[in-house]
Amino acid sequence: MPSTPLIIGHRGASRDAPENTLASFRLAFTQQADGIEADFRLTRDGHIVCLHDPGTSRTTGMDLAVADATLAQLQRLDAGSWKGEQWRGEPIPTLAQVLGMLPAGKRLFVELKCGTEIIAPLAADLARAAVPADRIRFLAFDHLLVAALKERLPDYRACWLCDYRWRGGWHPSPAQVLARLAETGADGLASRDRAILDAALVRELRQRGLEIHVWTVDSARGAARLADLGVDSIMTNRPGWLRRALEFP
Ligand code: G3P
Ligand code: CA
Repeated sequence: MPSTPLIIGHRGASRDAPENTLASFRLAFTQQADGIEADFRLTRDGHIVCLHDPGTSRTTGMDLAVADATLAQLQRLDAGSWKGEQWRGEPIPTLAQVLGMLPAGKRLFVELKCGTEIIAPLAADLARAAVPADRIRFLAFDHLLVAALKERLPDYRACWLCDYRWRGGWHPSPAQVLARLAETGADGLASRDRAILDAALVRELRQRGLEIHVWTVDSARGAARLADLGVDSIMTNRPGWLRRALEFP
């Protein structure tokens, strides 16, 4: 019987708490997540902050573009109250803060939502934090960024995010996926929920020693199928609920 995949809180425990905040990450760990996934961008003054969108309006109500804002401007925003009054005042965290709160043995999936200009500040934050490299995974949709990460930070694993909408709505073929992974030197595939993964592709990936991660899975049936396929991790907005659903079906 396959073992339960690692359960990774997508943007933390983002169904219950404001995504990509320290409160959401703490709640994910309280809910026994094995790790968290979080999105990172670069500010105008060279700091790495945790935010999914290019701008702040959806999660703070104030309209700033992260790439044009300073860290000080972003840290004044309230990234919590859109999710409920009890979260009022939750700030946008930095990567350094997220690394600093990672409990021993837990994993951090660092999704990079910019270009290669983030690599130098990323290397500096990682060197200061000293979280073991095997606890970190880099994720990126941009395969050129994955290739650059493998070249410049070879001690860390980097996985390519494959969206099923690749090239105008067509699923890439398994051969295209495997070719792209080989071309980038990626350590694995992170695939959108069930879009392209089947037993044959899983076998091919395993034969090449590649990791398999899947997002975003908030259904017990979908997660059970992925567990049967033998994926390494499932990213979910509901880590506590999903663990119970998988372990006590
Ligand atoms: O990292 C996997 C997944 O989070 C990518 O999609 O839009 O939720 O960042 P998105
Ligand atoms: Ca993400």
